[in-house]
Amino acid sequence: MKVTVVGAGGNVGATVAYTIAERDFAKEVIMVDLERKEGDKTFYPSKGRGLDQWQTAPIMNFDTRLVGTVDYERTKGSDVCVITAGVPRKPGMSRDDLLGINGNIVKSVSEELVKHSPDTIIIVVSNPLDVMTYAAHAASGLDSKKVMGMAGILDTARYRAFLAEELDISPKDIQALLMGGHGDTMVPLPRYTTVAGIPVTQLISEERLNAIIDRTKSGGGEIVGLMGTSAWYAPGAAAAQMVEAIMLDQNRIFPCCAFLNGEYGINDLFIGVPVKLGHGGIKEIIEVELDESETELLRSSEKAVRSTVDDFKKLMDK
Ligand code: NAI
Ligand code: 2OP
Repeated sequence: MKVTVVGAGGNVGATVAYTIAERDFAKEVIMVDLERKEGDKTFYPSKGRGLDQWQTAPIMNFDTRLVGTVDYERTKGSDVCVITAGVPRKPGMSRDDLLGINGNIVKSVSEELVKHSPDTIIIVVSNPLDVMTYAAHAASGLDSKKVMGMAGILDTARYRAFLAEELDISPKDIQALLMGGHGDTMVPLPRYTTVAGIPVTQLISEERLNAIIDRTKSGGGEIVGLMGTSAWYAPGAAAAQMVEAIMLDQNRIFPCCAFLNGEYGINDLFIGVPVKLGHGGIKEIIEVELDESETELLRSSEKAVRSTVDDFKKLMDK
């Protein structure tokens, strides 16, 4: 079983690759990134990261071979490909600038990936997530069940970690669901949050729960504020969990950015919903019952994601 990670010279991509290797379910992980020129020197970040990580195998006890490269030929026959390639938003850069730059990166990376692995499954991590997932789907020509984005596992992990801290319990016992786009309009669902089967609303005051939901919504920004750059351990672990579910045909239920064709009354849009993940990618989109206020929150998230997708389409048509 072969996995490719593009952008693996960077923080999230390297973490995805290493988490997969530590779990030891894949034969090899191919780590693609660009070469970087500085003066008369050329550096190969993904080759360096791959070599360093592979050299931990005898200590960490895994067999998964990690290989860094700048050549897509080496990705041939990948079962799953993860895209973390992109640039972060820099001072002075508009949202449209970022959309255009990362959109073109995700487009060209997706085209290269399917050229060498026509039956692959693509998991997008690059931001803005929901739009970049749309871009990968459009560029790859893959069936929509084989293209998805990672955000919900990360956002629910943050929510679960905050709840575990608040209640002083194991995060393992917290199950939670979250829907919508990856951003301020994400929709955490307290009604679908349980602690060992007990509704969380029985264990925590409404006020504290709302504070945790607010902290979850700005969870990405909190890390940027602390580090000056965005998170990578939790995002990397989250994407690796999706790869594992697909490759081991686990039929796990995760919130993922998936293409909707009428589900939740949403058409022709990639947005976060619960799905069943296993061999072949998304086996099922799970439609849970939403009450009036939850539906309203999902509608406003849909509106925000659709507006960014429309901006992106206009930008690409120029
Ligand atoms: P980073 O800057 O450390 O790594 C990005 C890598 O992409 C760099 O090594 C760069 O050389 C590479 N790259 C750029 N263009 C490329 C191309 N055409 N082909 C191959 N590689 C290329 O950034 P980091 O922190 O790893 O973040 C990566 C992306 O993931 C960003 O867009 C970030 O916003 C996003 N992200 C998304 C999350 C989510 O929940 N979906 C969570 C965290 C980050
Ligand atoms: C995060 O949520 C920035 O999307 C990134 O950490």
